[in-house]
Amino acid sequence: MTARLGLAPAPGTLDAAERMSVDELRSLQLERLRWTLRHAYDHVAHYRRSFDAAGVHPQDCTELADLGKFPTTSKADLRDNYPFGMFAVAQDRVRRIHASSGTTGRPTVVGYTARDIDTWATVMARSIRAAGGRPGHKVHVAYGYGLFTGGLGAHYGVEKLGATVIPVSGGMTPRQVQLVTDFAPEIIMVTPTYLLTIIDEFEKQGIDPRSSSLRVGILGAEPWTERMRGEIEERMDIHAVDIYGLSEVMGPGVSQECVETKDGLHVWEDHFYPEVVDPIDGDVLPDGAEGELLFTSLTKEALPIIRYRTRDLTRLLPGTARPGMRRMEKITGRSDDMIILRGVNVFPTQIEEIVLRTAGLSPHFQLVLRTQGRLDTLTVRVEARPDTRSERRGTAAAELVSSVKETVGVTVTCEVVDPETLERSVGKLRRLKDQRLR
Ligand code: DLL
Repeated sequence: MTARLGLAPAPGTLDAAERMSVDELRSLQLERLRWTLRHAYDHVAHYRRSFDAAGVHPQDCTELADLGKFPTTSKADLRDNYPFGMFAVAQDRVRRIHASSGTTGRPTVVGYTARDIDTWATVMARSIRAAGGRPGHKVHVAYGYGLFTGGLGAHYGVEKLGATVIPVSGGMTPRQVQLVTDFAPEIIMVTPTYLLTIIDEFEKQGIDPRSSSLRVGILGAEPWTERMRGEIEERMDIHAVDIYGLSEVMGPGVSQECVETKDGLHVWEDHFYPEVVDPIDGDVLPDGAEGELLFTSLTKEALPIIRYRTRDLTRLLPGTARPGMRRMEKITGRSDDMIILRGVNVFPTQIEEIVLRTAGLSPHFQLVLRTQGRLDTLTVRVEARPDTRSERRGTAAAELVSSVKETVGVTVTCEVVDPETLERSVGKLRRLKDQRLR
């Protein structure tokens, strides 16, 4: 990989919180946590009820470990209090509303005060800087604008950093290529699967994607693997770094990978307190153990969130590029994306790794679940690369099936289809097509 970017952060550019020691950070977190618990209890009926039912009171929190005694919050709690029941401030203090569509039923609605929007812009600016962005850079934002937090979240962060935002939003892929070519941005913010589609479009137009002005992709909103990073970095000659977040906790910018280490995402712990719990019984696990990620907001006014169960699976590791802040490992999947196939747990990211290391197969694939007799079957439907000869397709399919059997432990079938035949998403991709009979 040719690194075209100067990577060392100039001294003095980091926020004060990024330079804190672990002890300084823990004492700031405790103070902020106590405020948050009190604020939630005093202003949100749901929290008052749930704390009372669990027999805990904000005063019972005298150290960070006490948080484990408080009840968790789930997406269902936000849905049950639809639309504004979880808000902790009067409506006239709410400056913005976002919502996540969800796959079923009512959307999850979140709100922000003016200070919340400023906090969000601050953590986003910090994220973009950690990815290598600097004042003066041009940033092409291809995350969707609208109720989804991706577009506007990125937008305010770019402005706060002092860089130039190009608010393209998702879709109209040929135009994405034209704007990158004509406006010459250094940075692109987009989902990894949509960036692949943009890279394909460059090639279709006969433009070498490696010749573009882009140096960094800040990619997130969906799980992606190290192999996908390799594919994107190689084909576009950029640094591809991971950004994570969720609307209930803020939006993008809850954690960010630093470009100089690319070793997982530093959680901006001065605003978001992470825990990892056993996904089945909810017990808090020590750092280093894999489980479900929970977040508690530490400064949010409009929508304080206590121990939110993200369903995302990862583990917490000590800080590196920002020694005071813990990292979360790249997300391996969501507990609700997990396919249980004849008793074996399968994550789409495991299949992605195998697809990408099989010669002749492109990174565009779908997982199709069907019922055959009494059994569920899983088919990996994957596009051949444009230059793959047709004789190679059968061998590639056989190689994929045997690698999945060997590494994941299940038997799948594989269909290799023509390039450009599978549906592309312009934002978050859903890989799983569930066609099972119920
Ligand atoms: O996806 C916010 C976002 C926008 C993050 C742009 C990054 C970039 P939601 O729509 O509420 O918010 O979806 C949140 O998306 O719980 C994860 O399952 C997944 N997710 C987000 N970022 C990552 C990532 C936005 N880097 C849900 N890796 C989360 C894996 C991610 N999964």
